[in-house]
Amino acid sequence: GRLEKDGYPHFMLKEIFEQPECINDCMRGRVNKETHEVQLSAISEHKERLLGARRFIIVACGTSWHAGLIGKQLIETFCRIPVEVEYASEFRYRNPVIDNGDVVIALSQSGETADTLAAIELAKEKGAFVYGICNVVGSSIPRNTDTGSYIHVGPEIGVASTKAFTGQVTVLTLFALALSKEKQLINDTTYRCIIDELEQIPEKIKEVLKQNQNIAELSRIFTYAHNFIYLGRGYSYPVALEGALKLKEISYIHAEGYPAAEMKHGPIALIDTEMPVVVIATQNAMYEKIISNIQEIKARKGHIIALINPNDTIISKLADECIEIPETLECLEPLITTIPLQLLAYHIAVCKGKDVDQPRNLAKSVTVE
Ligand code: G6P
Repeated sequence: GRLEKDGYPHFMLKEIFEQPECINDCMRGRVNKETHEVQLSAISEHKERLLGARRFIIVACGTSWHAGLIGKQLIETFCRIPVEVEYASEFRYRNPVIDNGDVVIALSQSGETADTLAAIELAKEKGAFVYGICNVVGSSIPRNTDTGSYIHVGPEIGVASTKAFTGQVTVLTLFALALSKEKQLINDTTYRCIIDELEQIPEKIKEVLKQNQNIAELSRIFTYAHNFIYLGRGYSYPVALEGALKLKEISYIHAEGYPAAEMKHGPIALIDTEMPVVVIATQNAMYEKIISNIQEIKARKGHIIALINPNDTIISKLADECIEIPETLECLEPLITTIPLQLLAYHIAVCKGKDVDQPRNLAKSVTVE
């Protein structure tokens, strides 16, 4: 059962390992097994309102906000509608410009986060249409939105969010694809290709999970560290932010996520032999750029841990440590690259003897301001 640890030492590890199944649950009934078409009831029921949106504003907190950053790239790429991503706590107090041409997407695992709820209330007052993407069925956010899609990943017990993140990214991917199709902005070949690849993601995550033991061993090197830097570009930038957040939350090691090219405007000053730098370096459109970012770190003797594709021969020589992950389409990479970063944070925290399921000072759902 999902309320027990099923032999895992912690809920967090169990929930990391549930992700292949969760993503399948999330796609069930939405990706048609025969026609390979995406169907989201929220879109079919509110077609006019969603197709007519002039802008999307995603409001969220914490890990859900990181999923929102990926959602922005997906929706802008495939639907050509501008998307803003805001911390709910900032949005609610800054008198935002918003009207009935806007659609607000509220992302929340618990559906109870006070700031996100308040952001929704404000958006509704101003006439926006509100679409919720939540996990907990019947929680406050789904009860207070115009429509929504549940992520269906089952109860998440570990305070540090894992499977809810990949569930949110899956729903955002389905949303972007379905809306793009409705808007006739995507050709059939691309649409089919992305859906086929999406259906492969659970199997590819299983491949990554097979490296759990390697990652556990690797983690032992880093218990000394007081700081970490995580770098990524494009779709991998929010993944870098999320990797850094996971480490902070459960191991209490300070970590910063940064867009790799922006590193030269500050964080590069921090790099020395003591500084582990995690780089998401898969072979996508930004690959050549990432190689030069890695060279910049190497020149300053940073300790590089790179996430690479199996056939990589260049970065495997530059990096101190490599974690191999299966190839996929660039727009789906976050669903895979996130997994080793969750495991890395988990094992470092375990090595340090921290309580990974109940980290100090944090709450699973923040129902007060
Ligand atoms: C808390 C949790 C985080 C979570 C955030 C937003 O800080 O510890 O894991 O990402 O709230 O929660 P929500 O339920 O709105 O996604």
